[in-house]
Formats: sequence, C-alpha cells, structure tokens
Amino acid sequence: MNITVIGTGYVGLVTGACFAEMGSNVTCVDVDAAKIEGLKQGILPIYEPGLEPIVVNNYKEGRLRFTTSLPEAMADSNLYFIAVGTPPGEDGSADLQYVLAVAREIGQHLKAYSIIVDKSTVPVGTAEKVQAAIQRELDARGVHIPFDVVSNPEFLKEGAAVEDFMRPDRIIVGAEAERAREVMRNLYAPFNRNRERTLFMGVREAEMTKYAANAMLATKISFMNEIANLCDLMGVDVESVREGIGSDARIGYSFIYPGCGYGGSCFPKDVKALIRTAAEHGFDTQVLNAVEARNNQQKTVLFDKITRHFGADLSGLHFGVWGLAFKPGTDDMREASSVVLLEALIAAGATVKAYDPVAREAARATLPADWFASGRLVLTEHQYDALKDVDAMVLVTEWKPFRHPDFEAMKRLMKQPVIFDGRNQYDPKQLQALGFRYAGIGRGEHQPATRAELKIVAG
Ligand SMILES: NC(=O)c1ccc[n+]([C@@H]2O[C@H](COP(=O)([O-])OP(=O)(O)OC[C@H]3O[C@@H](n4cnc5c(N)ncnc54)[C@H](O)[C@@H]3O)[C@@H](O)[C@H]2O)c1
Repeated sequence: MNITVIGTGYVGLVTGACFAEMGSNVTCVDVDAAKIEGLKQGILPIYEPGLEPIVVNNYKEGRLRFTTSLPEAMADSNLYFIAVGTPPGEDGSADLQYVLAVAREIGQHLKAYSIIVDKSTVPVGTAEKVQAAIQRELDARGVHIPFDVVSNPEFLKEGAAVEDFMRPDRIIVGAEAERAREVMRNLYAPFNRNRERTLFMGVREAEMTKYAANAMLATKISFMNEIANLCDLMGVDVESVREGIGSDARIGYSFIYPGCGYGGSCFPKDVKALIRTAAEHGFDTQVLNAVEARNNQQKTVLFDKITRHFGADLSGLHFGVWGLAFKPGTDDMREASSVVLLEALIAAGATVKAYDPVAREAARATLPADWFASGRLVLTEHQYDALKDVDAMVLVTEWKPFRHPDFEAMKRLMKQPVIFDGRNQYDPKQLQALGFRYAGIGRGEHQPATRAELKIVAG
C-alpha cells in the first residue's frame, strides 16, 4: 500500500514508521523543513523509545520517505492520514486550521479515488468539514473525483507509542462507505494477527470515542487526586487506599495514581475541547468542569506544600527538581506540571536546579529564556548535580532512575534533607528513618504539621 501521512509529529511519525515496518510504502510530509531534513539524516525530532531504529531502517530500505511537498507525496498514493496538531483555540475548542489547511491542499491535488483519514484528535463533525473543504476545491477545479473521509483516532501513549501502535488495545475506524472500511481492514490486518482489534462504527461515533476515552482517563486521575487531597487532611495514606480500590476489578489499578496533576498534549486540551463542544450544544459538562478545575489546582499542590513548610517568601532558597517532562518516557513538555511549579518557585524568589534525563533540550526551547539568563533556573547534566546545596528536592516526573536513588548521597549533597514527592515514589517511613522531612501527595499520616494546621482552620 502507498500511504501518505501528513504531519510528522508524535503521532504522524509513529504512524508512518509503523506502517512502513509492516511493509507499506509511506511518505511522511511536514511543513517544518528542518524536521524533514533531520529525519532524512536519521535525526529524530522527538524522543520515543524504540522509534529510531524503525525510522532509520525503513528509510534505508526505501519504504519510508520524507518530504515537505504534499503534491509530491500525492503523486503515487491514494490513502492520506491527517496527523497534524489540533491545539486549543482561545475559547478551548480544538483549533482545526491545520487540519482544514491540509484538507484544502488535498482537494487541490487529488487525482483519483482516495481515502482521507482523520488521525488527529478532532471534534464530532470534523470529518464533514474535511469532506466539504476537499469538495469545494474539487468543485473549483471543475473535476469530479470520488473520495471518502474516515475517522481513525489514535490512542498511543507517548513513552510507549511504538508498542501501543504495534499492539493496540483496539483500532477504531469510523467509516460510512464499505469500500473505505475494506481498505482500512486490509491496512490494519498485520496489527490484528492474534485477535481482531478493529471496531468499525460511524464517523461521528469514532470522533466521540477518542474524546470520551481521554475524558474518562482524566476523570480517573482527577478523582484520585481529590481523594488524595482529602486523605492529606484526614491522616490517611492514600497509597493504601489506592491498592484497596484498585484491587476491585470494576475499578482497576490503572490511572488511579495520585500526583501533582496530569499534563501533556492530549488530556488537558481534549477535556477542554469536549467541554467547549458541549457548551456549543447548550450542555453543561458538570463532571468534566470539575475534572479540569481539580487538575489545574492539583498542579499547584506541590508549591502549596513547599510554602507551608518554608513560608510564602522563598527568596534565598534553592530547590532541586527531578523531572521536567509531563511524564516519563517522553521529552514532551506541553502542559507539564513542572512548568507551573517552576513559575511559582521563581516568582516566589527561589532559584532552581533541574534535571530531566531527556527533556533538557525541550526545556531550553520552551521555558522563558530570562530564567536561564538570570540564573534562576539551571539545568544539570546529572540527577545528583541538581541536589547540591539545595534546601529541598521536588520530584515531579517519575523517571525510573528517580525511583530508587541513593538517599544517603542525597542527604550529604542537600543543605536540608527535605523531599516533596509529587508522584508518591518513596516510602515515607523509610525516609523519616533516614532523617528526611517528607511530603507526598495524600500521605496524610506523615504530615502532622499540615494536619494540625488544617484542624485549626476547620475548628
Ligand atoms: N501526542 C500524542 O500522544 C497523541 C496521541 C493521540 C492523538 N494525538 C493527536 O494527534 C494529533 C497530532 O498530535 P502530535 O502530538 O503528533 O502533534 P505534533 O505537534 O507533535 O505534530 C504535528 C505536526 O504537524 C505538522 N504540520 C502542521 N501543519 C501542517 C501541514 N499543513 N502540512 C504538514 N504538516 C503540518 C507540524 O509541523 C508538526 O510537525 C493531535 O490532534 C493530537 O491531539 C496525539
């Protein structure tokens, strides 16, 4: 099969590389010339485990090509995947300008029957807009060329994207025309070898499925964060509660880890977009409003704990931050909790040394340049360098090397043995025995000062 993937970001590159790995000929298109040039030289624009060898090998074998020219890619293809970004617009709705720009360009160059697949996360009704945009261009050209628009939302997780694409829980295909379903069935056959994973449905249902999935996962996280915050007040260790409820098969263990908020390019924007879509239909999403509000607040929980311990004025204090990416396994900093924490620490007068195993370059590119210029933020090459002479360590992203660190060495390096653990990676009792002051998320029993304080307020 000859496939064109338009948009060579996290989703487009993984999609293109994985289809090529299964034997298809794939051309990846992007407007970012530097990205395309880099890929031709084997330089990947993103960090994603296992992706590099697949890209490099398939490029060498000639099954994967890269170009900035969509018309060039369209010369020998009739299956187009749109995988460009759909960032939040000012009102929170998904900004479709990139998707529709691609649709128009496809319409300008379409030559024969083709299938256009929306892989980007797009609101219900977008396939109809893509259809209309292409049709307008065909009409302007005065040609009649049949085409189908299909919705095939992507469910990969950054950090495990290749694995997720190769062995997905399910493949959702929203297609009305049987001829389009047949092509999609054939395309995904290699991914369905041990069991059938493809679910065919209507286009609008497929579009909604993606939002409902992300909204459900975000809800689980925000629910658990709410329980954790309550545990903090009541002297209850949420980690026991998590195990206690996760063992219920109806609830399960996934996505119930309390923490300092969810980030990334998907959950925050998709929850916002669904709220916005609902508002356009005059519907008030009470649950999702609360999910979003809880998450925004959750991103400030670490800073609140820090100021409860050190006071509101942090000038002259130094903090060591472990983890900048929005989650382990990626260099993606979009909507990362670390950014909210850094902003608050720096605004309160603190200086920060931060370490992340892979997101250093992304941090340099996205965080305010004056933080670096003024020395308020220093990125270190090694995780322990970030702890030298600091008044406290703050764990924001649970990368594996942070899970079982050398606590004795940390104590020697740090000015004060204080740890704020935004992902509940450590055992409070063990740390207390080692002489650390420790605060996790919802580990109530180990924060007597906080409890007492809140009892006074409550009383
Ligand atoms: N990142 C994820 O984990 C993930 C998972 C599932 C779904 N999605 C969805 O997939 C879509 C893409 O997300 P992403 O994270 O890969 O985005 P991204 O920002 O990493 O990549 C988008 C790419 O599209 C390119 N682009 C923009 N306009 C273009 C055009 N006219 N022609 C060609 N290329 C163009 C950009 O240069 C960029 O490289 C979004 O809708 C997102 O919500 C993302």
